[in-house]
Amino acid sequence: HIVAYITGGANGIGKAIAQKMHCQGAKVVLADISCKGAKVAEGLGEKALFTCTDVRLEKDVLESMKCVKEKFGGVNVLINSAGVVGYEPIYDFKNKKPHSVDLYRCLYDTNVWGLFNVTRLMVGLMAENKPDANKQRGVVINLSSMMACEPPPGLVAYGSTKSAVSGMTMPMARGLASKGIRVIGICPGYIDSPMTAPQKPDERKKWIGMKLTPKRYGTCEEVAHLVQACIENPLINGENIRIDMGFRYNQERDAVQRISRCYLAECAQNLGKYVDQVSKRLSTFQRCGYYILDGISKISCGAQISLKQFFGCFNAR
Ligand SMILES: NC(=O)c1ccc[n+]([C@@H]2O[C@H](COP(=O)([O-])OP(=O)(O)OC[C@H]3O[C@@H](n4cnc5c(N)ncnc54)[C@H](O)[C@@H]3O)[C@@H](O)[C@H]2O)c1
Repeated sequence: HIVAYITGGANGIGKAIAQKMHCQGAKVVLADISCKGAKVAEGLGEKALFTCTDVRLEKDVLESMKCVKEKFGGVNVLINSAGVVGYEPIYDFKNKKPHSVDLYRCLYDTNVWGLFNVTRLMVGLMAENKPDANKQRGVVINLSSMMACEPPPGLVAYGSTKSAVSGMTMPMARGLASKGIRVIGICPGYIDSPMTAPQKPDERKKWIGMKLTPKRYGTCEEVAHLVQACIENPLINGENIRIDMGFRYNQERDAVQRISRCYLAECAQNLGKYVDQVSKRLSTFQRCGYYILDGISKISCGAQISLKQFFGCFNAR
């Protein structure tokens, strides 16, 4: 019987994993900082539990673990999906601005420390499980990212947090093997989720262009499918698995788009100025036109009157 503890289970990939596992008969715990998780757990019913947990806080995780032990007796699957993203280059040369310290710390706090914090506490509970036929007691699955291997310049901080996550896979697997606990890293490419929702269409198009096939964003359900396979297969251990549609970062393509975006913005600005000038000239021209037309109509009107008078005189004769 599977009891899965899923951090970040309120949204995106974590939520899809919770739904899939619950559907297959597992008990699931959604540990998330967002109270949206309560609704998700409520929707799943009896065998689901939500605990409002900040993965960065030892106190939160310990309290959450206590609830889980009381309700489900223990945990044999840990999915570390809680994560945050932020984009900034190491130095913004145009505005002379170095990378924000707060963003860097925020990403490391959640993605690296938070994941490590939950794992270090949870594996103690896992080690209490009775071993199965393969002498295994549980599995830890960490959501790393393809950005651990292919980070663009704007993801220097995020990408390196994910390298740290991937870097934990093997030493954790080695350290926990004697207790029959496996550790696997999953490295998804761009996936449709609340995390990627703010990306603009031209940015999505650029990333899709760097994928081999399929040429689209992945779905959270497709990642959940791989997670399920990793849980079920006792042979998978100590490995970081990419699920990224063959994505390879392309520096030239990225640069061309960034340059063309700047160039287009400059063109649009210049075009705006030009349109402004033209419309000013047009309105002057229009005003002149009105005067000319007015003059013509007055002249022609005057001419008609005199013709009428002329013919009137002629008729009178
Ligand atoms: N979406 C992608 O394209 C993609 C690609 C590669 C890797 N990933 C990784 O997969 C994981 C899930 O991503 P997602 O797309 O589902 O993101 P998401 O933003 O949809 O969900 C992340 C969840 O983590 C929770 N969370 C954030 N900080 C937390 C904290 N301190 N404590 C507890 N919960 C916290 C959020 O409330 C949210 O529910 C992340 O680790 C992400 O870095 C995502």
